[in-house]
Amino acid sequence: MADGRSDAVPGSPEWWSLLEARARAAVPSAVLRYVEEGARDEVTLSEATAAWREARLLPRVLRDVREVRLTRELLGCAASFPLGIAPMTLQKAAHPRGEVAMAEAAAAEGVPIVLSSNAGSSFADVGATGATWWLQLYMSPDREVAAALVDEAAHHGARAVVLTVDTPVVGTRFPTPGEQHVWDVAHPSWVGANLPREGRDPDPARRHKAMDLAAGDLTTLKSRSGLPVIVKGVLRGDDALAAVGAGAAGVWVSNHGGRQLDQAQATARCVARVREAVGEQATVLVDGGVRSGLHALVALALGADAVLVGRPVFLALAADGPEGVRRLLRLLRDELEEAMRLAGCADLDDVRGLVDDGR
Ligand code: FNR
Repeated sequence: MADGRSDAVPGSPEWWSLLEARARAAVPSAVLRYVEEGARDEVTLSEATAAWREARLLPRVLRDVREVRLTRELLGCAASFPLGIAPMTLQKAAHPRGEVAMAEAAAAEGVPIVLSSNAGSSFADVGATGATWWLQLYMSPDREVAAALVDEAAHHGARAVVLTVDTPVVGTRFPTPGEQHVWDVAHPSWVGANLPREGRDPDPARRHKAMDLAAGDLTTLKSRSGLPVIVKGVLRGDDALAAVGAGAAGVWVSNHGGRQLDQAQATARCVARVREAVGEQATVLVDGGVRSGLHALVALALGADAVLVGRPVFLALAADGPEGVRRLLRLLRDELEEAMRLAGCADLDDVRGLVDDGR
């Protein structure tokens, strides 16, 4: 089973359990706990996938679905289907080549990867994979530190900057009693490869982040980098509109995988209002609990341009390396294709309005 094959039908609950079991065998339990945990009582975490499942679809019929077209341009980058890899620290805990292995898989399957500013692999090494990659940024209180990071990323081929805005402080997570803490087992080389030496404390909670982020930061980031800026961690229509008004190319509907403000609304329930607020001029991305191509279809139907996936690709990297990530990406792509056929949609533009809103 080391190659990830079993009799379980890919995408079935049994298949997911086997993937998790293989990942569990491959990484220290404190790392797995860190990946899977959410903030406080994990209310938001527990609702994420359930909220995608709540949507009810009104499929179209009598449509020609022999050919389904899934390619999409995202922020000027071609994607083979509308999905990307969300930024996550600690990928070197999953695989010795960490983010580089993840980027190789993304490149092979033609989807963008968003690199955490706390990655353990250098921008140069990720850039050398040929993947389409975007930099995720936590703004430092000293804006110059972040500016230097952005300059370096742009130099190594980053195609966009994703500013995470939902993390003025790191949300409290409750440890499992008797279990080691992830930052006690994490090797220093797993994180912070691109950060200045003084910013390399492995524990993100001890690295200070700007608590005074404002619209002006978006404007500055955009002009300094010359790259499209995406604002990650938006759940409200008014905030989305303000971000786009300040020059953001788009917004990323996210509650940080339920790891920040607990009891924050599920992203599935926020996408439509964010799309409505920004209209069609901005890119709308969404993440949180997307576990199948069907969930992706729901997200696109509600107005997203693309979905991003976090924990599942981390588990796949831990369990089966870059080949496992590729298999998972292909599975999600195939599931989206099947769902589109069943919903009578040959083109991504046909999926809007598939969700029954009672009208
Ligand atoms: C994250 N996330 C995250 N977000 C971010 O902006 N910068 C980061 O460095 C990290 N690091 C990180 C590590 C781990 C282990 C996890 C699980 C998550 C949040 C991530 O980008 C994304 O918003 C959620 O994980 C998406 O939800 P799913 O797909 O994991 O349910």
